[in-house]
Amino acid sequence: MKSRDNDPICNRNPRPDFPDFSTVLAQNASRRCFLQVAAGSALLTALGMPEWVSAAGRPAAPAIGFVSLVAGIEDSVRIPVGYNLQLLYAWGDPISDGPPFRADASNSAADQAQQAGMHHDGMHFFPFVENGRPSSNHGLMCINHEYTDDGLLHTDGMATWSTEKTFKSQNAHGVSVIEVRYEKGAWRVVRPSNYARRITARTPIRISGPAAGSSALRTKDDRRGNVVFGTINNCAMGVTPWGTYLTCEENFNGYFNGLDAPTPEQKRYGIRRNGSGMRWHEHDGRFDLATEPNEANRFGWVVEIDPWNPAKPPIKRTALGRFKHEGATVTLAGDGRVVVYMGDDEAFEYIYKFVSQEAFDPKKPSSDLLDRGSLHVARFRADGKGEWVELTHGRNGLDEKAGFADQADVLVRARMAADIVGATRMDRPEWIAVHPVSGEAYCSLTNNGKRSADSVDAANPRAANRFGHIIRWRATNGDAAASGFEWDVFVLGGNPAHPDEAKRGTIKGDGFGNPDGLWFDADGRLWIQTDVSTGSLNKGDYEGLGNNQMLVADINTGETKRFLSGPRGCEVTGITRTPDGTTLFVNIQHPGETAGARSDPANPTAVSAWPANQFKEATGGRPRSATLAITRQNGGVVGT
Ligand code: FEO
Ligand code: CA
Ligand code: CA
Ligand code: CA
Repeated sequence: MKSRDNDPICNRNPRPDFPDFSTVLAQNASRRCFLQVAAGSALLTALGMPEWVSAAGRPAAPAIGFVSLVAGIEDSVRIPVGYNLQLLYAWGDPISDGPPFRADASNSAADQAQQAGMHHDGMHFFPFVENGRPSSNHGLMCINHEYTDDGLLHTDGMATWSTEKTFKSQNAHGVSVIEVRYEKGAWRVVRPSNYARRITARTPIRISGPAAGSSALRTKDDRRGNVVFGTINNCAMGVTPWGTYLTCEENFNGYFNGLDAPTPEQKRYGIRRNGSGMRWHEHDGRFDLATEPNEANRFGWVVEIDPWNPAKPPIKRTALGRFKHEGATVTLAGDGRVVVYMGDDEAFEYIYKFVSQEAFDPKKPSSDLLDRGSLHVARFRADGKGEWVELTHGRNGLDEKAGFADQADVLVRARMAADIVGATRMDRPEWIAVHPVSGEAYCSLTNNGKRSADSVDAANPRAANRFGHIIRWRATNGDAAASGFEWDVFVLGGNPAHPDEAKRGTIKGDGFGNPDGLWFDADGRLWIQTDVSTGSLNKGDYEGLGNNQMLVADINTGETKRFLSGPRGCEVTGITRTPDGTTLFVNIQHPGETAGARSDPANPTAVSAWPANQFKEATGGRPRSATLAITRQNGGVVGT
C-alpha cells in the first residue's frame, strides 16, 4: 500500500538500549557462514522444485549472467536483451469464461467478482504433476490483489458513492486463483477452468486456531466467532510444504471507521475515524466500529487457501498472530516442524516467527499444523546475536497482571504482547526470503522517515531512513526452530551517484531504494523489488534511480544488477517461477499512481497508459495492474 510516512506512529514503546552500530557492522562483516539444512531441500522438493537442488555440491553462487539495464523512466516495462515479455493477467481480465474487462470501468460488482482484482501483489505458481513430474507448462496461480484505486475502479470514481460501488471495491480485493498453461510459445489463462475462483472481501472464510471463538472475535452476525466474510489488503504471501497458499492481511485498519475515542488496542493498530477513506462503512455496517466493534479483530491475520480444492473455504490461522502482515515465509526446522517468518509493515514494528508444535510429515500431510504452535518476536542485539522471544500466555510477563486474559488475547493483540517483551522496533519489515539451501533469512526494511538520530540501533542504523536496508539472520545450528540467531546487515539501500556519501548506502552495482518484494529462486539468486513512493521517484535523493524496478543480488559478493524497470507510477511486487526456472512471473502494481491521491476518473491515463501502450492485446482506457511472464529467448533459466 502507499507509503504511510504521514501516519501517526502506532508503536510508542521505548526502545531497548544498544551499543555502537559501526562496531557491530564491522564484527558481522567477517562472520559469513552458510549452513547446510537438509530440511530446506525437503521443502523445495515437496513444493515441486527441481530435484537437483537437493543434491550436495551445488555452487554457492549461481550465475547471474544478463546485461543489466540502465534505470528506466519510460512508461513501459523493460527487461534485458535476450528475454521475452508477455502480458498474462491484468485487472479486469476474466478468471475463467466470465465477463470481459470494459475500458471505461463500467463492469458491475458482480462482474468484478469473476475478474482479476486490482493492485496485484504477492503470488505463487503451483505446478500440476504431469508424467510424474511437476510441470513447468501448466499450473495454478494464486495472486493477491492488495487494494484498490477507486478513482480508476468506477467510471466516475468515488462520486455518487453507493452500495454497488462498495461491493465492487470489495470484490476487487482478495486473491485470484487461475489456471495457466504454456503452449505454442505463449502463456495464457485457461478458460474455462474448474479451478478458477476469486476470494474477495465478501467470501466466507473460516477462523481457526487459539483465537477462534474467543469473545474478541464474536460479532452480531457471527455469535460463535468462527466465520468471517472476506480477506483484505492481501500483500505478500507464503507457500506451505503441503501445497497451500498463505495470503497475508496488511493494512486492514484503513478499511474501518473508528471511534472518536479509540481504545488503546484500536490506537495500537491504527484504527481511526474514516480509516484511509475507503468509505465501505457507509454501505456495509460491519466496517463501522460504532455498529460492530469486534469486526476489526477479524482482520490482520494470515489466511490459508487450498488452490487445488475450489470448494474449500479459506481459513484464517490465528496462531500466527494479528498484525499488519506483510508475508508469511515458510521453512522447516531440523526436526520437520513448520517455521513461518513474518514482518509487520509499519514504522517501528516487529519481525515475528511461528513454530508449529508438530512436525510436517510428507506421508501424512496435515492441514492443521498452523493451528498449534508458538509465536515469537525478534530481538536483535548489538553484538550481532539475537533471540526469538516467545509470545505465550503465562510466559515472559504475558499474564493477567499485564492485561492478557489468555492466549487468544495475546494473539489478537500480538503487537501489544511484543511491546511487553522488548522486541526490536524495525524500519518497516516487508518481505522475508529464505535461502533454499542454507536457510539463511533476508528481510527488507523498506524505510522509516520517523526514526530520529537518538533512536537508531544496530539493526536499524540510519536516522530518517530514506532508502531502507536488507537485514539477514542465520539460526543457531542452522535450525530454524532455535531461539537464537546471528545477524548482519546485507545492504543499505541508496543512490550510488548521490553527492552525499551517506546516501549512497553500501550498494555495489545498480542503485535502489526502498526494497520491498524479496525472494530467492531455487538456485539461490536473491531478487529485490522496489517500492519507492510515487512522489519521490527519480527526483531529489532518488534522481537517476528511475521508475520502480527489480534487481538480482549475489548474496556472496553483495553485487546488484537491474533486471527489470517498471512503467510510470508503478510498484514492482510479486514474483514466482516455474519449477524448471524457464519462466519468471512478476507483478506490476498500480501503474499510473498519482502521488498522494486517488486517480482522477476524468483523466485516468494522466500518469500512465500501461499496459495498453506496450501490449497490443491489452484493452486500454485505464492503467491496469498486471502479471507478466518473462522467458529467455534461448529457453534457458531466467537470470542466468
Ligand atoms: Fe503491502 Fe508493506 O507492502
Ligand atoms: Ca506501495
Ligand atoms: Ca509490500
Ligand atoms: Ca511497500
